[in-house]
Amino acid sequence: MIFTVAIDGPAAAGKGTISKAVAAHFGFAHLDTGLLYRAVGAKVLAGADPLTAAKTLDPTDLENDALRTPEVAQAASQVAVIAEVRSALVDFQRSFAQRIGGAVLDGRDIGTVICPAADAKLFVTASPECRAERRFKELQGKGMDVSAQQVLADVIERDKRDSERATAPLIAAADAQQIDTSDLTIDEAVNAAIAFVQSRLG
Ligand code: DC
Repeated sequence: MIFTVAIDGPAAAGKGTISKAVAAHFGFAHLDTGLLYRAVGAKVLAGADPLTAAKTLDPTDLENDALRTPEVAQAASQVAVIAEVRSALVDFQRSFAQRIGGAVLDGRDIGTVICPAADAKLFVTASPECRAERRFKELQGKGMDVSAQQVLADVIERDKRDSERATAPLIAAADAQQIDTSDLTIDEAVNAAIAFVQSRLG
C-alpha cells in the first residue's frame, strides 16, 4: 500500500511530535524533512558550499544530535531559500513518500510542492509565543544556554524567512486540514491528527 501523509507548519508548532505519533499509530515510515535542510545548514556552517552539501547529502548525515541547535536551525532556514538546494533534495523526499507501507513527511512544503497529491494533508500551527515557549523549554531541557526572548526572536525571524521566500514558501495547501495546537494538549493534538488520517484511509 502507498499512502502519503503530508504535515506542514511553522517551527515548533508540534509537527514533529504529531508526525512521529501518526507514523507509529499507522505503522508508517516517517521523514522529518527539516533534518535535510539542517544537515545542509550544518555543513555550510562548517565551511561547505550549500549546493555541494545538498547534492552529496547522505542519510547518515541526518543522525546527528548537533542538528537540533538554534544556530543550525537558522542556517537551515537560510540554505532553504536557495532554489537549487531545494531541487537537490526533491527526489529523496518523493521516493520516501512512495514507500510501500505508508509514509509521513513533515516540513514546510510537503503538501504544496513535494507531494501535492498526498492522501492526507495537515497544517499544524500555534501562536508564535506558544511555539517559542515550547522550544525554549525543549532547548533548556537539553542544557542549552538560551533566553526566552532570543528563542521568540529566532522563531519569528525563521517564520518570516520561510514564509516569504520565493521558492516553496511555508503556506497551507488549500486542501490541508488545519490544527491549531496553541490550546491543545499533546494527546488532543495527536488524536485530532490520527482521526483525520483515519478518515482519509477509510
Ligand atoms: O522543521 P525544522 O525546524 O527542523 O526546519 C528547519 C528549517 O528548514 C526551516 O526553518 C526551513 C527549512 N525547511 C524547509 O524549507 N522545507 C522543509 N520541507 C523543511 C524545512
